[in-house]
Amino acid sequence: MTTIFLLGFMGSGKSTLAAQLALKLGYRFIDLDCFIEEKMQQSIASIFEEKGEEAFRKIEREALKEVLQQQRQVVALGGGTPCYFDNMEQINQIGISLFIDVSVAALVKRLGGSTQKRPLLEGKTKEELTRYVQNLLEKRMPFYQKATFRISSDNIRVSDLLALLGNA
Ligand code: S3P
Repeated sequence: MTTIFLLGFMGSGKSTLAAQLALKLGYRFIDLDCFIEEKMQQSIASIFEEKGEEAFRKIEREALKEVLQQQRQVVALGGGTPCYFDNMEQINQIGISLFIDVSVAALVKRLGGSTQKRPLLEGKTKEELTRYVQNLLEKRMPFYQKATFRISSDNIRVSDLLALLGNA
């Protein structure tokens, strides 16, 4: 009876895996980005555009605090959520965190082909995207590594997560 948090870079598949895991466990599924969009009645892209990234991180932090009040849920965090304030400490205090660790090559492939609007990636060529993902992932790694568990593969399935949790 806890909260399971999925974290990792944009395009790592957190939301899809979290939804599947929630279904398997009979837990509620929460996508933090969607939670924010509903709460603010505004898309993430438009929050970035109108208010800027710093304001977004504060909004994200407040949304996380609200989500932390509940239990029996699988939460897909935003790619940057673990890297601001003491978010990661709060997350680990409340529940179990899983780092969905996907290679840069696979991330770039997925993000390049994605139609989802991601403000941090807007307007980048494939080369720029590769460099950007490499740099940002390196910066974020110390935060991602605070996760309770790490699963590294370019083909992670919900059964892999269940096996990991079963052994916890
Ligand atoms: C971000 C990731 C996005 C979203 C926002 C910022 C990031 O979520 O929170 O655009 O800083 O990595 P996803 O990881 O779900 O794309």
